[in-house]
Amino acid sequence: MNLLTFQTNEELNQIGASIIASLVQTKQNAVLGLATGSSPIGIYQELIRLNEKGYVSFKNVRSFNLDEYVGLPAGHPETYLSFMNKQLFDHIDINKENTRVPNGNAENLEQECKLYDEMLADASIDLQVLGIGHNGHIGFNEPDQNLHGGTHIVTLKEETRQANARFFDSIDEVPKQAVTMGVGSILKAKMIMLVVRGADKADIVHRALTGPITTEVPASLLQTHPNVVVLLDKEAAKYF
Ligand code: GLP
Repeated sequence: MNLLTFQTNEELNQIGASIIASLVQTKQNAVLGLATGSSPIGIYQELIRLNEKGYVSFKNVRSFNLDEYVGLPAGHPETYLSFMNKQLFDHIDINKENTRVPNGNAENLEQECKLYDEMLADASIDLQVLGIGHNGHIGFNEPDQNLHGGTHIVTLKEETRQANARFFDSIDEVPKQAVTMGVGSILKAKMIMLVVRGADKADIVHRALTGPITTEVPASLLQTHPNVVVLLDKEAAKYF
């Protein structure tokens, strides 16, 4: 595991973006696993800049997002599809038909999960971008006695709904369920880039990466992956 600590957000964003950009430039038809949340936003902004300047093109890239809320109306600003369009896809030369975000409004959600897994099996992710929740979740794989390998429907923990309430008018509007890629699919990515910012994540990221490997801290399973790069700002790196 390669742990990099950055003194400034600019440096973190530049290195994160250049890791993604090098892959996209060198690998024909690269497949990216993408994440939402505040952690990757600066990296996406840097990718937009590199794309505008012509240093990297996403024309042949395919992408799969980790997760999506269940039940938010299509076009709602807090769907993860809206997030991805706003934060990245609308500003780069990617073909949107090559981007996938689970459909949290599918009539048959079980079927949607199955379809997503079939697409993932065909594609095989080269680089998965990840954030971490305060409780150690990755994607929306919440701490539990058992974890799922594949895409599945999850009931969000109260603490996760509270953490994400800042994006909604009130906690009541935060969906109670989500569709998420499973930990098995995440670990199948050839490379994983975990991005963690802020003092409030210092304890969980330290526990996840140095503590016991346990389903009660889903991110701790990253310790079993052979090719993980962790980008930490100096606040999140406090305990390393
Ligand atoms: C959400 C997402 C996760 C993300 C996490 C952390 O719950 N489903 O994929 O990693 O939040 O978000 P943030 O980066 O805003 O702290």
